[in-house]
Amino acid sequence: MISFTLNGKKTELDVPPQMPLLWVIRDVVKLTGTKFGCGMALCGACTVHLDGVAMRSCITPISAVEGKTVTTIEGLAPKEAPHPCQRAWSELSVPQCGYCQSGQIMSAAALLATKPEPTDEDIDSAMSGNLCRCGTYPRIRAAIHQAAALSKKGGTP
Ligand code: FES
Ligand code: FES
Repeated sequence: MISFTLNGKKTELDVPPQMPLLWVIRDVVKLTGTKFGCGMALCGACTVHLDGVAMRSCITPISAVEGKTVTTIEGLAPKEAPHPCQRAWSELSVPQCGYCQSGQIMSAAALLATKPEPTDEDIDSAMSGNLCRCGTYPRIRAAIHQAAALSKKGGTP
């Protein structure tokens, strides 16, 4: 039995300890906002937060999250009070096909939690592991700056 907190809820699951967290999130718990891209920690589509830090759920065995806190895109913020990144993403129409965007937002949110006013270099470095086949990188960068500005005005990153 694995016990952890998922999106604020105590969660206990009887799953094989080596099952990747991404499989658990999507196939067992049925939260499908987190995407499968490469399965090899190369694309960032599967990014979630583990104790507030962005990590790749595709290569993380569920046993590694025992007693920890996992946040997925569904738990990043309440629907009625979206995270500044979600607001900025929407305001700037960042997504194209959208497939990579949950992972992009989770990485961006983790960045803003540690660097509330990131430079372009901070953004490029923090986001370099999140690939976008649609090439939305310029809009992602602009949205992170906008989210930082929104947070300064009263949102919470
Ligand atoms: S699916 Fe996890 S990094 Fe690509
Ligand atoms: S928006 Fe299509 S892969 Fe990023």
